[in-house]
Amino acid sequence: MTLEEVRIIELPKIMDARGNLSFVEQMNHIPFEIKRTYWIYDVPGGEARGGHAFRQNKEFIIALSGSFDVVVDDGDRQQTFQLNRSYYGLYIPNGLWRSIENFSTNSLALEFGSINYDGNDYIRDYDDFLKLKRDGQI
Ligand code: TYD
Repeated sequence: MTLEEVRIIELPKIMDARGNLSFVEQMNHIPFEIKRTYWIYDVPGGEARGGHAFRQNKEFIIALSGSFDVVVDDGDRQQTFQLNRSYYGLYIPNGLWRSIENFSTNSLALEFGSINYDGNDYIRDYDDFLKLKRDGQI
């Protein structure tokens, strides 16, 4: 997978004086079937998480509250996507290195995954990632 396949997806936004509403549907706004949902919260301001790649898991990330930067790397190039609105999601296919950085205080990151949690799906060493990428294994 390459950076070209990473994309920001704008979600429906139903405007209402009582408060706005947004939603996501699998195989629609999220281009995979959702197997898992998790969220990252209580992150100290400025903190970073998640420097790793997934062999199979595809992700869709929403900043439900606050803001953070998602840095995605395909082994050749790096791109930073700032998420700061709850009606945008970032789709990241498998096989890309990503970290989430620069969390604002009280930010809330909601993440959808395409597979159940599997520690063996993680590539946690950047040099291993580069090697797998160059060998065409991810
Ligand atoms: P991890 O994905 O490694 O987060 P980070 O890369 O930001 O440190 O997850 C942290 C811990 O949580 C790790 O021990 C695995 C566990 N975990 C689950 O058990 N299930 C999950 O769905 C996720 C995302 C993590």
